[in-house]
Amino acid sequence: MSTLTKMALGLLGQLHGQPASGEVLGEMTLPPAQTTGGLPLMAALQQRHSAREFRPDALPPQQLSDLLWAAAGINRPADDGRTAPSAMHAQEVDLYVALPQGLYRYAPHGHVLQLMKEEDVRRVTGYQDFVDDAPLDLVYVADHSRMKMVPAAMRESYASVAAGAMAQNVYLYCASAGLSTVVRAWFDRQALGQAMGLTPDQQILLTQTVGWPKA
Ligand SMILES: Cc1cc2nc3c(=O)[nH]c(=O)nc-3n(C[C@H](O)[C@H](O)[C@H](O)COP(=O)(O)O)c2cc1C
Repeated sequence: MSTLTKMALGLLGQLHGQPASGEVLGEMTLPPAQTTGGLPLMAALQQRHSAREFRPDALPPQQLSDLLWAAAGINRPADDGRTAPSAMHAQEVDLYVALPQGLYRYAPHGHVLQLMKEEDVRRVTGYQDFVDDAPLDLVYVADHSRMKMVPAAMRESYASVAAGAMAQNVYLYCASAGLSTVVRAWFDRQALGQAMGLTPDQQILLTQTVGWPKA
């Protein structure tokens, strides 16, 4: 769907997702993340970049597992430590994954994807057309109810920093794995919040498309 069509539908309150396709699972078990190897850090930083052309092919389970672990996984189980920092260890940013099979939320404990909605909301995750057909769009969602100890005026800023750190982890993983990605803030917040069925405590901060580069 073109950017103009999305903008027009958004103004009319008619920008919606599509019926889910493929095998819809209530819980998607991921293989354990491969947490060794990959490009050396400095080489990954050298390769990091945004790209906006994607093949529609799904990510194999191992790549999906590694990607989600890089973004938001548990790297120090004894302390419930994560791969990205959060103010006061609040872990207030949830990672949603929009797939053709539906909208899922990544659960770091158990390293699984939990079905939130049996709908393909990819096209609502951004005004740009490539988000519709890329194999997955990540959505970073702050849960303000987990930030009660942070002054109200600081909550959005703290959560945005945490989401930015997660997004950079995704960039570096993609650089290492030969995947393309772009983090995005240009989307219809109202349409996406509705399509995802979010509560008033939840705020969408960023989205990010991931997939194989077009040849
Ligand atoms: C907060 C933020 C929002 C962004 N929003 C978008 C967006 O909506 N669409 C897009 O195509 N790129 C978006 N970008 C990506 C930037 O355009 C990109 O990082 C910039 O052009 C530099 O290119 P590079 O990432 O390849 O270094 C965003 C980047 C950031 C940090």
